[in-house]
Amino acid sequence: MNKSDESLLKNPYLHNGSNTVLKKSHFNSNKLVYIESYGCQMNFSDSEIIASILSSQGYKTVNSPDNANLILINTCSIRDKAEQTIRKRLEKFNSIKKINSKIKVGVLGCMAERLKDKLLEEEKIVDMVVGPDSYKDIPNLLKEINKGRDAINVILSKDETYGDISPIRIDSNGVTALVSITRGCDNMCSFCVVPFTRGRERSRDPKSILNEIQKLYKNGYKEITLLGQNVDSYLWFGGGLKKDFKTAPPLNKKTAINFSNLLEIVAISFPKIRIRFSTSNPQDMTLDVINTMAKHPNVCNSIHLPFQSGSDKILKKMNRMHSRDEYLDLIDKIREIIPDCGISQDIISGFPTENQTDHNQTLSLMDYVKFDYGFMFSYSERPGTLAERKMKDDVPENIKKERLQEIINKQLEHSFFRTKKYIGKTVCVLIEKSSKKSNNFWSGRTSQNTVVVFPKKNFKKGQFIDVEITNCTSATLIGNGINISNSI
Ligand code: SAH
Ligand code: F3S
Repeated sequence: MNKSDESLLKNPYLHNGSNTVLKKSHFNSNKLVYIESYGCQMNFSDSEIIASILSSQGYKTVNSPDNANLILINTCSIRDKAEQTIRKRLEKFNSIKKINSKIKVGVLGCMAERLKDKLLEEEKIVDMVVGPDSYKDIPNLLKEINKGRDAINVILSKDETYGDISPIRIDSNGVTALVSITRGCDNMCSFCVVPFTRGRERSRDPKSILNEIQKLYKNGYKEITLLGQNVDSYLWFGGGLKKDFKTAPPLNKKTAINFSNLLEIVAISFPKIRIRFSTSNPQDMTLDVINTMAKHPNVCNSIHLPFQSGSDKILKKMNRMHSRDEYLDLIDKIREIIPDCGISQDIISGFPTENQTDHNQTLSLMDYVKFDYGFMFSYSERPGTLAERKMKDDVPENIKKERLQEIINKQLEHSFFRTKKYIGKTVCVLIEKSSKKSNNFWSGRTSQNTVVVFPKKNFKKGQFIDVEITNCTSATLIGNGINISNSI
């Protein structure tokens, strides 16, 4: 994969190795925690919940493992490489523990859930293993490890949504924030480990979602991303597993809130906040959602719509519940209702039995849609998944990589095609931070989620600015700020 491609920086699944710094005054010097997060946006959002739980126990977060007496690593299992990276980090933490044996190490998140007590056996350095639904038990688990015993809680929950915990915004730009609305996934794509590591799908009470956004609004935040593995299947009917909706009392069914209802409520309640959501699954995305997006100017015109493969044969084996034509129909409808909608993808190359014809269908689907950007991976067999149990990982590694490179090259062309179209146009940009390349430039994003950089002048972080686009790369628009925008 071409790591220098800036579009990869937007990859929610590649935000690797970022650490979490808490600024809280009430702490004690025995309670210094270092948290490192890997994987998807949900993990980063979870780390903010973990930080909140630890803060209530008097912990202060430090920005280096060398200064901590508790090291927590929030892990990802999505591909084998993600797990290998984390094992290497554990080796590094081991060298720190050799210098100070009092340091405790906890593994949290998907790897904890997948490997359970095996992690305690395989990685001698690990003292504590905590799955994604057990973070509220961390204070008890800490008591155990401080007595010198290993501690583990990997029980998946039917109702835990952490809706009552106020996340501590960490590593924050003070402008954009993640707000989780569902946990878990019921889709069982045959390649995916998430349903095993994050459990069944549960939706969070809309009241607690609105409270969280209200707090963010009061604190000056300008954009939120509603987060879930599969946001379009959000369904609030009083709590519990989604599958129990069938047997829920009639009144609960009548008053149930689905994703398009939630989106509308948030859009109307917070007209000055920009709203994004991620991730959409093609099989669950409804026209209602697209119409709600079109109706409310503060809902961004941007949809992340993974399609994984352009071949019906492969989609079927992947247990994706949509065909190539259904996906393309959805794209046509999106473009009809929201002509300037940014659309992005996830693709997997080299799934079992994928041949050249299947691969060509993926390329031709890309040609049809010309996605704005995408996150592309070669297939990695995950233990316990249907694909691992029933299918042979039979596409040779070099072919997987070759196909992946072709897919990436095509995406770069299409991204450039999309960004070039903005030259000469004026777009509304929310300023998020200083540009990485130059401190004299701001960096922000359009409604379509394209990064824009422009000279700072007197503009300020958190403002919506009309920017005239003068140049571009495949991943970034370059322009000049004209004035504070009337739109959002
Ligand atoms: N819930 C989201 C994202 C799930 S994981 C969705 O509906 O798509 C993010 C992406 O990782 C997936 O879209 C898929 O493209 C990729 N992925 C998941 N499992 C994988 C595997 N075993 N090998 C390679 N890529 C994988
Ligand atoms: Fe994974 Fe498919 Fe759910 S990719 S997270 S099982 S929608």
